[in-house]
Amino acid sequence: MVEFKNVSKIYPGQQTALKNVTLMIEPGEFVSIVGQSGTGKTTLVKLILAEERPSKGRIVIGGWDITDIKQREIPTLRKQIGVVFQDFKLLPRKTLFENVAFALEVGGETWDKIQEIVPQVLRIVGLESKMGRFPNQVSGGEQQRAVVARSLAHRPKILVADEPTGNLDSINSRDIIELLKKINDFGTTVLLVTHNREVVNDLHRRVITMEDGVVISDKQRGKYLL
Ligand SMILES: Nc1ncnc2c1ncn2[C@@H]1O[C@H](COP(=O)(O)OP(=O)(O)OP(=O)(O)O)[C@@H](O)[C@H]1O
Ligand SMILES: [Mg+2]
Repeated sequence: MVEFKNVSKIYPGQQTALKNVTLMIEPGEFVSIVGQSGTGKTTLVKLILAEERPSKGRIVIGGWDITDIKQREIPTLRKQIGVVFQDFKLLPRKTLFENVAFALEVGGETWDKIQEIVPQVLRIVGLESKMGRFPNQVSGGEQQRAVVARSLAHRPKILVADEPTGNLDSINSRDIIELLKKINDFGTTVLLVTHNREVVNDLHRRVITMEDGVVISDKQRGKYLL
């Protein structure tokens, strides 16, 4: 589902973020990526989304070699990948319904389809009854769940979550992780970048540990080693 073959990323200014990374994530896996700050985790995510291009090596997503992806093909790639970041970026003047709907409108979905999909994904995250509220009328945890709902709108094959619990307390964090597990149970491949030791150790899933742009450990049912 996600394949990196000898991928290096050197940012302008000679900052090396990834060094010869090779990894393979199979469909349906739930993989945590851990590592100290500045070890290349977000860079890895950006390469998957084609927000950045590799300096060396090849990247294949769902059988599609995106190493030299054309600008006009990027929306097609992004529809296959749901993204959740630490700082929930809901649009403040739109309701939760409208926030999720907006993602679909931008993707060219019909209004009928939008009316069908939005309540479905909000139900998955337990927010169907609050879909008429604005972001500032729900809690931080609920906002992040709405972000997860939005990321699911396109029924992505892969969900990439970069520190999704970074701004949340432990109870809300647990809710988000439970949600990611549920989404994974539906068959979506989940890639979770996190600093949260408890989260990783409770998951009992594959853990990839990064250090200085290199994968230093990759274990099934791994532990947070740092
Ligand atoms: N656009 C950029 N230009 C130059 N250097 C960058 C850029 N983005 C990231 N870097 C550098 O690349 C390295 C890896 O950054 P990255 O954001 O991937 O780290 P990270 O593992 O996600 O860290 P954190 O845990 O703090 O989020 C860092 O040294 C960072 O300073
Ligand atoms: Mg990061």
